[in-house]
Amino acid sequence: MRNGKVGFAIIGTGVIAPKHAKAISFIPEAELIAVVDVAEEKAIEFQEKFKCVQNYASLEDCFQDDLVDVVIVCTPSGTHGDLVIQAAKAGKHVLCEKPLEIQADKMTAMIEACKKANVKLGAVYQRRALDTNLQIKRMMEEGVFGKLAFANAYLKYYRSQEYYDSAGWRGTWKMDGGGALMNQGVHGVDMIQWLNGGVKKVFARATAVSRNIEVEDTAAVVVEYNNGSFGIIEGSTVVYPNQATRFEINGDNGTVVVDDNGIQVCETLEGKLDPANWKPAVEFPEADVPPLALGHFRFVWDMTRAVLDDREPFVSGEEARKAVDLIHAIYESARTGKEVIIS
Ligand SMILES: NC(=O)c1ccc[n+]([C@@H]2O[C@H](COP(=O)([O-])OP(=O)(O)OC[C@H]3O[C@@H](n4cnc5c(N)ncnc54)[C@H](O)[C@@H]3O)[C@@H](O)[C@H]2O)c1
Repeated sequence: MRNGKVGFAIIGTGVIAPKHAKAISFIPEAELIAVVDVAEEKAIEFQEKFKCVQNYASLEDCFQDDLVDVVIVCTPSGTHGDLVIQAAKAGKHVLCEKPLEIQADKMTAMIEACKKANVKLGAVYQRRALDTNLQIKRMMEEGVFGKLAFANAYLKYYRSQEYYDSAGWRGTWKMDGGGALMNQGVHGVDMIQWLNGGVKKVFARATAVSRNIEVEDTAAVVVEYNNGSFGIIEGSTVVYPNQATRFEINGDNGTVVVDDNGIQVCETLEGKLDPANWKPAVEFPEADVPPLALGHFRFVWDMTRAVLDDREPFVSGEEARKAVDLIHAIYESARTGKEVIIS
């Protein structure tokens, strides 16, 4: 830390890393100190573009830099566990891109390593930080929609074969850990399980219906939530055209339907409601950030404040693993043809 600013390092300078660098630039109490990438030329380009102080050839050198307080892990999903554990052992706080990891035992080890080193572990599930979703969360906690019947998530996207071929780790069990659900759909899976207080049971089908990949490009899941409601999760990366992510929650007192374009329905027996009248479950500072960058800005801001105020990040490691554990249960059900009980 210097001049009272939390120092960040970004590991992995691929598709998602620029969102973190931009987010840091919007936060007065944060500074981008270092970048590391196994592809050295990418790190150099990134350093120049985002005016980052250092570009380290090795993780060890980066972790020895006293100005680095927080490491943001932006590498392929199957590398998260080892990198987080290494960072924690070096005494660095960690903000990890989704999914937290792709293996259950690695998630346990990451969480334990951060606890042992007394460093913070947060994960990026940016949908949770959007005002509308935080307001719906509050409404559900207050029971506005009555006894819930359904909570459905429609996560239907389009990714070409070229997308899967664009980086060797995409679409592999070893590094992506899954497909339409573990990579693209994990945000929506996380949202729907979070809104409903977790999942009790799942029954699923999942396979690659169209792309030449090891993992699923399409999955259909029947869910029973801890709150007693049922739901459907449809996840795909071979639906053309790409559909807006959509959530539907129906209860005996009301319904809310929200998609990427905003609230489509919010109505109870008492009449139409505007979720904006509910205080979000968590509040973030005002910032002149482009809408598509808002989620990452909020997560990086939250980690900055967690370090300065010595508090838990908004989405902790324990919270972040829930979506991955749920997706593992879905894969097990698809593999065995049987219902899987989670909790
Ligand atoms: N939150 C979101 O919306 C979002 C969006 C896209 C990706 N992601 C997540 O971010 C992570 C990265 O995805 P991406 O699409 O940016 O991948 P990418 O392939 O574009 O970039 C990954 C980078 O990491 C580097 N790298 C790989 N192993 C490394 C190591 N051991 N040390 C240092 N650098 C290493 C690669 O050279 C590459 O530059 C994934 O876990 C993905 O799920 C999140």
